[in-house]
Amino acid sequence: MAIIAQKCPHIKVTVVDLNQKRIAEWNDADVNNIPIYEPGLSAIVAEARGRNLFFSTDIERAIDAADMIFISVNTPTKTYGVGKGMAADLKYIELCARQIAKISTSDKIVVEKSTLPVRTASAIKNILENTGNGVKFQILSNPEFLAEGTAVADLLNPDRVLIGGDTSMEGQEAIKKLVAIYSNWVLKDRILTTNIWSSELSKLTANAFLAQRVSSINAMSELCEKTGADVNEVAKAIGMDSRIGSKFLKASVGFGGSCFKKDILNLVYIAKSYGLNEVADYWEQVIVMNDHQKSRFAKTIVKTLYNTVSGKKIAFLGWAFKKDTNDTRESPAIYVADDLLDEQAIITVYDPKVTQTQIHSDVNYLNSRSELENKNGLTILDNPYDVCQDSHAIVILTEWSEFTSYDWQKIYDQMQKPAFVFDGRNVLDKKVMEKIGFVYQAIGS
Ligand code: UDX
Repeated sequence: MAIIAQKCPHIKVTVVDLNQKRIAEWNDADVNNIPIYEPGLSAIVAEARGRNLFFSTDIERAIDAADMIFISVNTPTKTYGVGKGMAADLKYIELCARQIAKISTSDKIVVEKSTLPVRTASAIKNILENTGNGVKFQILSNPEFLAEGTAVADLLNPDRVLIGGDTSMEGQEAIKKLVAIYSNWVLKDRILTTNIWSSELSKLTANAFLAQRVSSINAMSELCEKTGADVNEVAKAIGMDSRIGSKFLKASVGFGGSCFKKDILNLVYIAKSYGLNEVADYWEQVIVMNDHQKSRFAKTIVKTLYNTVSGKKIAFLGWAFKKDTNDTRESPAIYVADDLLDEQAIITVYDPKVTQTQIHSDVNYLNSRSELENKNGLTILDNPYDVCQDSHAIVILTEWSEFTSYDWQKIYDQMQKPAFVFDGRNVLDKKVMEKIGFVYQAIGS
């Protein structure tokens, strides 16, 4: 919404949320205090806020005044009832639709921005048409393809914008209105319009394909470790095949983030609900592989440290699910920490952007141990050198660029010997690290 506001000064954009604290943070006089860390975002908010970008908790007024409403609420995986652990929980979407229906006194276009399972639009449509005040609604699907950490660049220069709508004349008119907004900065041939179901399914498909690539290269990383091949070399060799391409081939401790796991589970659930068991099993294996990669990494650490980490200090560099974001949802770091805490390791963590409260709440959320045990077992410090001091091993969980510029000799000197580094993101140079004296272990080599 910030980008739309920046690129379309003639359009008034109001972002509404029930959460007063959250909205207050977005309105903070110091624009560096906005709640999401994303390179370039503060500057854009600074430019548009107060001009045509507003943050408010007055949801009813904003709904009534709007010609177009983007539903961007959370669609977490269901934690109860039918489809528990797989299906998307559409509670918030439905509440939104009901509120829009109740308040609207003029015709509106409702845009699904949240990632939704196929055919959600029909549910929204039913609610809007049956509880409304005779007001006409058009539903569009406009999935978001931005990746965190590169959100601003992705939005300013998208590979494509996808807009799905009804094939009726009114549906096509609604599509045109949304196309007109994006046309302010996106080339026409990058704006793809489809029927609404294709658009909804394309988002899940894109994430499933990307996650599958990471799981595929991670599956190869284990084989590389057994055979003496180097997964980085393998990735380079196959990535140069123009049919395959070089992106999303970086072996890692596993993928994280709010989308991949949730969307694939959702896809699996949809496939199952149509009785397509082979399709469901095929995609579920992407998740199985990812879970295996995380636990395998933790097991390697324990095994290499002479089969015990009990009472040993282990330093984590990075907690976010990837660099340039303070988002920790489904971050592999959480699972690796969980496994090592089970083995009674003493963990210290440094991440340039993630807060202490967040890290503790991430491990507490797993409910594996008491909050007190987690507090005693895991300490967060704001300096990488302090975190590594006296540790037996350093574990790299996020590919933050700053990690390569540390004084690794200094870090080595202050560690227990032998000094181990487990590079879960393959960011450091093996030769350099070994020359200093580290026992260095990366993924897949
Ligand atoms: C993803 C999709 O890319 C985006 O289009 C969608 O809208 C939301 O989900 P995001 O979750 O922000 O975006 O991050 P992404 O860059 O896709 O990375 C996902 C995970 O895979 C991260 O944990 C990342 O570190 C990992 N990854 C990615 C790898 O391990 N290796 C790779 O080669 C690429």
